[in-house]
Amino acid sequence: MKRIQLFEFEDFNWLPSFIRSSITNLLALLLKMLKTKDVVAALIHDIKMQHDFKQIVDLGSGSGGVMIDVIEEINKNSNTPVNLLLTDLYPNASVVNNINSLNIKNVRYQHESLNATDFKNAPEGLKTMMNSFHHMPPESAKNILKTAQENKQPLLIYEMGENNIPILLWWLLLPISIVIMVVMVLFMTPFVKNLTFKQVLFTYLIPIIPLVYAWDGQASLVRMYTFKDIENYLLKDLQNDSYTWKIDHAKNVKGKKQGYYILGLPKNK
Ligand SMILES: C[S@@+](CC[C@H](N)C(=O)[O-])C[C@H]1O[C@@H](n2cnc3c(N)ncnc32)[C@H](O)[C@@H]1O
Repeated sequence: MKRIQLFEFEDFNWLPSFIRSSITNLLALLLKMLKTKDVVAALIHDIKMQHDFKQIVDLGSGSGGVMIDVIEEINKNSNTPVNLLLTDLYPNASVVNNINSLNIKNVRYQHESLNATDFKNAPEGLKTMMNSFHHMPPESAKNILKTAQENKQPLLIYEMGENNIPILLWWLLLPISIVIMVVMVLFMTPFVKNLTFKQVLFTYLIPIIPLVYAWDGQASLVRMYTFKDIENYLLKDLQNDSYTWKIDHAKNVKGKKQGYYILGLPKNK
């Protein structure tokens, strides 16, 4: 397997929640800048044509990422709006309250923790995992796919990047990549939605947030599953006649590659 199981600060339960949310706030901003909404909305639109669902249950939602914009796009011209339930293993109460208090049509963030590995007990609907699948170690990742298939639940996994850099080169470039990402954070922070005083303080005065973001971002790259990892390991024993799997590059509106996706769908009888 090419993927390597490095740590990310985000995965530690001792990480103060304001740091975790600052990281996911920055990620949400980056996704907005990259217009990822269009990429994901197009994928979900296609899924809806093949398999109808009334709710999307997003696992590992962080600060909401791209999904709130996506649901607005999906429901824009629809007579049967789809609900969006955001969930996370570490839901930050102030992020949850903030999103819920906006009373965005058809959107709710669940207060209680939901572990993506507890896939079987997640509420009904299309499950989505936006930039969170690489957080799952191989056994858990495999189990999620297996459970989706066994329970005939539709599942869309999207990762904004791809693990295609040789690992030696990744290590060699790491110092410069970290510096670039730290500088990026310094420029991005003023544009973060719901920016808090703490995020400003721990960015510009004590720059813990830029360092955590830079490490987690770089580690994420090599933690992503490659197509071969998915085909030869995660999906190896999972082929059957009642469920289909598709792994492909995601494309933006100009047809350029922008991340990749894994789509699991029950076959229509
Ligand atoms: C990189 S962030 C992505 C956040 C958001 N989906 C986005 O695209 O901006 C990964 C998120 O997955 C969550 N996460 C990590 N492990 C998880 C698990 N086992 N179950 C549910 N969420 C998890 C983290 O708390 C974090 O919010």
